[in-house]
Amino acid sequence: MKISRAVIVAAGLGTRMLPASKAIPKEILPVVDRPAIQYVVEEAVAAGVSEIIVVISPGRTTALDHFETAPELERHLEMRGKDEMLDTIRRIATMAHLTAVEQAEPLGLGHAVLQARDAIGGEPFAVMLPDDLFDSKRPCLGQMMAEAERLDAPVVALLRVAKSEVPKYGIVSGRKIAERLYRLTGMVEKPTVDKAPSDLAIVGRYILPPEIFEILAQGRPGAGGEIQLTDGLIELAGRRPLYGYEFEGTRYDIGDPFGFLTAQVGFGLKRADLADNFRAYLRTIISSS
Ligand code: UTP
Repeated sequence: MKISRAVIVAAGLGTRMLPASKAIPKEILPVVDRPAIQYVVEEAVAAGVSEIIVVISPGRTTALDHFETAPELERHLEMRGKDEMLDTIRRIATMAHLTAVEQAEPLGLGHAVLQARDAIGGEPFAVMLPDDLFDSKRPCLGQMMAEAERLDAPVVALLRVAKSEVPKYGIVSGRKIAERLYRLTGMVEKPTVDKAPSDLAIVGRYILPPEIFEILAQGRPGAGGEIQLTDGLIELAGRRPLYGYEFEGTRYDIGDPFGFLTAQVGFGLKRADLADNFRAYLRTIISSS
């Protein structure tokens, strides 16, 4: 299953990040010095995807504005000889082709994905949740794409989570068929610990066939009155083989304050220009607390 397009869903209310997300979409909040969505677009581009559809709330275009050209700013940087930043700003505007589709109301992740139906058409595609940032040698999406292509089947990203975290996720059941790879037989959205079929959670990267649109379009609202992607995946797994892949790397959930903080530290420590000072600073505050 080969893909050339990705859907980034960014039309949720982001209530866990309020009040930061009240006036601006959480995807535009910076991790170190880049808006979160830039990491996701860079991951897609590194995996070979250059056509991206962003699902946004009506009129909330800030996440896309970031990828527009900025002639005034470029002139300013050019005049002051800030060539490195000029290159960075130009690169952002040319790294991918982004278009927006609106989700009139936040009726759930499945409903958000469904809004990209016309833009995607009849080809397999990726879904990327911009709350989930990955730090890995090979881009997480690239790992998933390699598996989907080899298996010629849909693949979702899996993460082993602590028991206490299980009720926050869609948890899968399945059979391990190779290192990191599972043939999925079912999944439960946000189960209690005693009802969870495993400790493997679905996280925000999916390679899906266009068939999922038809399934989501027929789907009735589930938990919380939302159209859940998990319900669509359960139906999909009943129709054709569906796989889960335990990606290599670290994932940060920047959709809540704790994950947001850990992402700042994790990505901050990876930055060659900041790491030494930042590490020394962290050591000082830890030893004095
Ligand atoms: P989340 O449930 O994590 O995000 O959805 P949320 O609803 O924005 O956040 P909270 O729970 O209120 O804090 C995962 C992803 O799906 C998108 C969100 O923007 C997020 O990137 N989403 C969710 C939509 O685009 N539309 C929806 O109706 C729901």
